Amino acid sequence: MFPEIVCPIEGQPLSQTAGKLVCARGHAWSVDAGIPRMIADRHNYADAFGLQWNTFRKTQLDSYCGSDISLRRARRCIGAAAWAFLHSGAREVLEAGCGAGRFTEVLLATGASVTSVDLSSAVEANQDNFAQSDRHRIVQADLLNLPFAPGQFDVVFCLGVIQHTPSPERTMAALYDQVRPGGWLIIDHYTHSLSRYTKTLPLVRQVLRRLPPEQAMKWTARLVDVFFPLHRAARHSRVGHALVSRVSPVLTYFHCHRLPEELHRQWALLDTHDALTDRYKHKRTRKQIHQTLERLGGVAIASEYAGNGVEARCRKPPRGGWPARASAG
Ligand SMILES: C[S@@+](CC[C@H](N)C(=O)[O-])C[C@H]1O[C@@H](n2cnc3c(N)ncnc32)[C@H](O)[C@@H]1O
Repeated sequence: MFPEIVCPIEGQPLSQTAGKLVCARGHAWSVDAGIPRMIADRHNYADAFGLQWNTFRKTQLDSYCGSDISLRRARRCIGAAAWAFLHSGAREVLEAGCGAGRFTEVLLATGASVTSVDLSSAVEANQDNFAQSDRHRIVQADLLNLPFAPGQFDVVFCLGVIQHTPSPERTMAALYDQVRPGGWLIIDHYTHSLSRYTKTLPLVRQVLRRLPPEQAMKWTARLVDVFFPLHRAARHSRVGHALVSRVSPVLTYFHCHRLPEELHRQWALLDTHDALTDRYKHKRTRKQIHQTLERLGGVAIASEYAGNGVEARCRKPPRGGWPARASAG
C-alpha cells in the first residue's frame, strides 16, 4: 500500500470533492490526467525541465536505447547492501525528481512499489512511459513540501536533482525525513570543476536560462546543429574531443557511451538543454555532502566522487537501534 497522500501545507488527510483533493482546512488540489497536482502554481523554476522531459520522453530509457546505462548508474549509487535490501521484500520507494523515468524503469524492475514525484510537467512524460498501477504512483509535488507524512519510505532515491533545487541542504533534510527508520537514502550531487573557467557552457547558460523554455529549446537545437558534427569528427581522438569541448557548449557522449548515431544526437540535445537552462546549479564537495548526511543523523554513510560529481548514500537508524548481530550495511 502506498503511503497516504496528505495536504502538503497542513499535513492533514484529504478527501475527494468534485474532482479535487481537499483537506479539512480547505486547501484544494487538482487531479489532472490521473496525477495529483500538489503544487500551488503550475509554473515554476522547473518549467524548462518539464518541456525537456516531454520533448525527449524516451531518449534516456535503457529499454529505448538498448543499453544498461541507467541501470549501472543506479546500482553504483545504491550499493550492494541497499540493492539487496531493495530486493528483500515488498519495498516502498520514493523516487524524488523522476523526470521522464530513466530510473523509474530501473526501480520498478526491482519489484518495489514506486512513488515518482516531480515538480514539473515531467510527471506527464513519466506517466506516458510507465503507467500508474498498483506498484507505480505519480504525484506532482515539490521535494521541499512533500505531501506525505515523514518516515514512510524504505528507500528514498534522488539522482540528478538536488543541485537543481533552491537549497541542496534543505532538500537533503526533506528527503531524509521521508526515510523510514532502518531505510536508505540514495543521492548524488554536482561538484566543483575547472570547466567553469575553461569552457563556454557557463557563459552560454547565463543567456539561455533567462529565456522562455521554448526559445531556449530552439537555441539549444541550433547550437547542436553547429557543434555536434565537430564532436562527431573528433570522437576517436582524446585531444580532439578535449579541444572541441573547450569551445563548444554542447554535451556529447561519444567518449563514454556506445549508442547509435541518432541517439547520440538526441542525448546531445537533451543534456545540452538540461545543462544550459537549469535555474539552480549548485556544487558541493564530497566532504560537504558527507557532513550533511552526518548532521541529519545518517549512519553507514558512503560518499565518493563518481558519475556526475558526488554519489552518496546513508541509512536511517531504526527506532531502538539495530537488533543484535545485524549491521547497518
Ligand atoms: C536533471 S532532471 C533529472 C530527472 C531524473 N532524476 C533523471 O535523472 O532523469 C531534474 C529533475 O528534478 C526536478 N526538480 C527540480 N526541483 C524539484 C523540486 N523542488 N521538487 C521536485 N522535483 C524537482 C525537475 O523538474 C527535473 O525533472
